[in-house]
Amino acid sequence: MKVTAFNGSPHAKGNTSIAISLVLEELEKESINTEIVQVGGQIISPCKVCLKCRKIKDGYCHGYENDSEDILNYCLDKMYESDGIIIASPVYFGSVTPEIKALIDRAGYAARAMDSKPLKRKVCSGIAVVRRQGALTTLEQINNFFALNEVIVPYSTYWNMAIGREPGEILNDKEGVSTLKNLGTNMAWLLGKLYG
Ligand SMILES: Cc1cc2nc3c(=O)[nH]c(=O)nc-3n(C[C@H](O)[C@H](O)[C@H](O)COP(=O)(O)O)c2cc1C
Repeated sequence: MKVTAFNGSPHAKGNTSIAISLVLEELEKESINTEIVQVGGQIISPCKVCLKCRKIKDGYCHGYENDSEDILNYCLDKMYESDGIIIASPVYFGSVTPEIKALIDRAGYAARAMDSKPLKRKVCSGIAVVRRQGALTTLEQINNFFALNEVIVPYSTYWNMAIGREPGEILNDKEGVSTLKNLGTNMAWLLGKLYG
């Protein structure tokens, strides 16, 4: 079994990365393979509504075929090969980062265009990292992507969020840390039931 986590922060080693690691450590304890894909700060352009995904129906985005640096189809491959997906974002003005918005818009259209519904019943969770306000809106944005792709979403003892500003600060948020660890435990349990 494998879970891939997408880090929407431009900080590869910031709070969002730490939040992801807290979940992944629990998954690894149950022998689930994990991988982090760095999305923040990478080239992942917005959906240009060419709608080629709906015509070609191969599960990929064809809007940026001549841009070898655009990582969207790489991200789709990682989603398709995984049993579980984590999408984590710091809150930027009450929202996911632009890279995560591009990821969910384009991945959502490309995956949903396929008749086989390739994300269906994967075990998926969003994570929001916040200095003060906007976590629930950010989680809802991620969950909207999950909802329309028929995935199964485990939860924890609180919403999947942690509080911190400077890189590393979320480790002072004891409730956030325990919420994320418990999310990892619940995700591992569900994966075991479905795919173990
Ligand atoms: C452009 C920008 C906008 C932000 N907007 C918000 C916000 O709306 N609400 C909030 O609580 N924190 C906001 N923050 C703070 C980050 O969410 C917070 O510092 C987070 O821990 C950064 O995670 P990272 O270390 O993974 O990048 C913002 C930060 C930046 C850079």
